[in-house]
Amino acid sequence: MTETVLSGIRATGRLHFGNFIGAVEKFVRFQLPGNTCLYFVADQHTLTTLKDPAELRGNVVEMVMDYLAAGLDPEQSTIYAQSSIPEIAELSLMLSMLQPLGDLETIPTYKDMVRANPNNVSLGLITYPVLMAADILGPKATLVPVGTDQKANVELARELARRFNNRFGATFIMPELMEEMVRVPGLDGAKMGKSDSDNAIDINEPIEQIADRYKRKGITDPKRTKREMPGEPFHECRSVYPLHELITPGEKDTGIIAKACMKAEIGCGECKERLIESIADILGPFQERRRELAERIDEVREILVEGGKRVRPLIAETTSEVREKMGVVLYA
Ligand code: ADP
Ligand code: TRP
Repeated sequence: MTETVLSGIRATGRLHFGNFIGAVEKFVRFQLPGNTCLYFVADQHTLTTLKDPAELRGNVVEMVMDYLAAGLDPEQSTIYAQSSIPEIAELSLMLSMLQPLGDLETIPTYKDMVRANPNNVSLGLITYPVLMAADILGPKATLVPVGTDQKANVELARELARRFNNRFGATFIMPELMEEMVRVPGLDGAKMGKSDSDNAIDINEPIEQIADRYKRKGITDPKRTKREMPGEPFHECRSVYPLHELITPGEKDTGIIAKACMKAEIGCGECKERLIESIADILGPFQERRRELAERIDEVREILVEGGKRVRPLIAETTSEVREKMGVVLYA
């Protein structure tokens, strides 16, 4: 089946390994003949936590370079900035009229943000998932690759599509989540994310530094105090084995490392060494391509302009359909 695959990432800075494995690597994999791939930088969503406008401008460009170095090909994927398509915000406004406020207060990503920053609860933060629904429903995406943490947001988009279609007639397509959504653990075992704690691996961090951090901080089975003791990779090992399962080729199916750990044939040090090899196999080639791209800022601008031109008509058409169905006339 061919799909319209769509996803975005906020431009909050450099990507971490969780973004890479949970999202960007999947974006690349969906670039298949027949698929329409739409990948954007969610710069308006970034405004919910805006610090420095100049930094935001720079981050958008940096992120597109990360996309390109990871393997997104502007010939196969439409790469754009959310803000270049004003119809998305208009669509979001119209959809917001069908969205009960109470449901937005129960969304996990909203609750996390409120907990992290109780003094910065803006209207934009609470309507964040409605803007995200407009991102998805505007170009009629059929598949939305994201990490596990975004599940409730995509479900809210589905609910909005259903509500609109029920009231105004078939308009939106129901977007699906991909089957294998993952949660990449950080060094401390919590979800890898942009927190202040020593948790995230920057995808542009030198491999030696990543190795050093895993060796010193990576959490294995705390009950395994001696090398001869068997370990418990599945329930006790918090940051090292769970990542093996996600990135070490064949491990999920064969469980070779897990079995060796449970029989004390492999120690935690060696297990970390092997993990670092797996990380290096993924990030090494990425970092090399990323260095080559660093100077090509003009090209990035061009890619974003072209991407915007390509996707805007799709979104404009849906927005005009919605306007019409809701009785809104443009006197222009
Ligand atoms: P962060 O959570 O670091 O702020 P974003 O919210 O910008 O990152 O997430 C961008 C994409 O990366 C989303 O699809 C999100 O689900 C995915 N993602 C972020 N962290 C992880 C993680 N630890 N494991 C898997 N996917 C993740
Ligand atoms: N909320 C997503 C995140 O924090 C980013 C995002 C914005 C997105 N709009 C989207 C993801 C539409 C998928 C589809 O990562």
